[in-house]
Amino acid sequence: QSSAALLKWAQAASRGFAAAAASGPGRKVAVLGAAGGIGQPLSMLMKMNAQVSQLSLYDIAGTPGVAADVSHINTKAQTKGYDKDGLAEALRGCDLVIIPAGVPRKPGMTRDDLFKINAGIVRDLVEAVGKHCPGALLNIISNPVNSTVPIAAEQLKRMGVYDKRKIMGVTTLDVVRAKTFYAEKNGLDVASVDVPVVGGHAGVTILPLFSQATPKVSMPQDVLEALTKRTQDGGTEVVQAKAGKGSATLSMAYAAALFADSCLRGLNGTPAVECTYVESTITDAPYFASKVKLSTEGVDKVFDLGTLSDYEKEGLKAMMPELLASIEKGVQFVKSG
Ligand code: NAD
Ligand code: LMR
Repeated sequence: QSSAALLKWAQAASRGFAAAAASGPGRKVAVLGAAGGIGQPLSMLMKMNAQVSQLSLYDIAGTPGVAADVSHINTKAQTKGYDKDGLAEALRGCDLVIIPAGVPRKPGMTRDDLFKINAGIVRDLVEAVGKHCPGALLNIISNPVNSTVPIAAEQLKRMGVYDKRKIMGVTTLDVVRAKTFYAEKNGLDVASVDVPVVGGHAGVTILPLFSQATPKVSMPQDVLEALTKRTQDGGTEVVQAKAGKGSATLSMAYAAALFADSCLRGLNGTPAVECTYVESTITDAPYFASKVKLSTEGVDKVFDLGTLSDYEKEGLKAMMPELLASIEKGVQFVKSG
């Protein structure tokens, strides 16, 4: 009885993640860093996505166990685990590669403090993507996203296989948080709420646009500022609560699964609109998160920012020095490497 109920739930969840599945071909998806705090629940959620027919789970340690475990879930994706020697096979033929590989923050650290270790991890994994599945969409989760996305782009440029439509920094967790906090504060049904979040993915570079939130609620300035700050510091809130045991993993896996689902829907011909950090010309920053349309080739259109409140205009101005410096640091890492 209870397993029938669970199966029903799993099927409903799969349908929720993939209403367009029936119309599109099955897709091959790889998770690089699949045995980690994000990687494990994300691998489970991708196994439950009906748009996925093959699921490659790659990590430098621990993948056989995770893959065996996930592979027993009775959904259609054929699941295989790969270790260090299996990266090429894991990637060959992939439509979408999701990268949560790398170290997470501990209390007192900034995301930029992770650059030293994660920059090289992302560069090397993206080099393998450029070799073995150059046409795949790339969803980059590893921090600092403001730098790891430019690193990925520069690496693929170097290899002559760069396509700006294919590389996306995952900022969905900022949107997920902004929606949760906005709905909670205003007594709204969170399922009916939308809040665009633009800029980047670190501190002041995270800019929720509550003036464009729907349904629209006009909030006193002090409440607006508190909600903005809580969204900007959402990651730190979790890092502190975990007290040395890492950063957001479960909400991140959920957010990454939602974003990946939109990417797959787009590939399968049902365009979706999401906020994500991409190559951009809508501000002075060469990479910037904003709403984009995801379609059959990836990012089809980058939407401009629309009308900003004075408070948001100030936030946009304030983030630029940090965002530009993080981008340049990523670009130089590959150019000088
Ligand atoms: P974790 O330490 O639990 O897991 C990371 C995994 O990466 C480990 O299993 C490790 O073995 C693996 N790994 C390390 N080097 C690798 C390599 N070269 N190839 C393949 N796998 C490799 O960390 P986590 O909590 O899962 O976080 C992962 C990353 O995601 C961190 O950089 C974190 O800051 C970032 N993150 C980003 C967001 C976001 O919103 N974009 C949210 C949360 C966390
Ligand atoms: C987050 O926003 O939760 C992630 O970027 C992880 C972190 O270090 O805060």
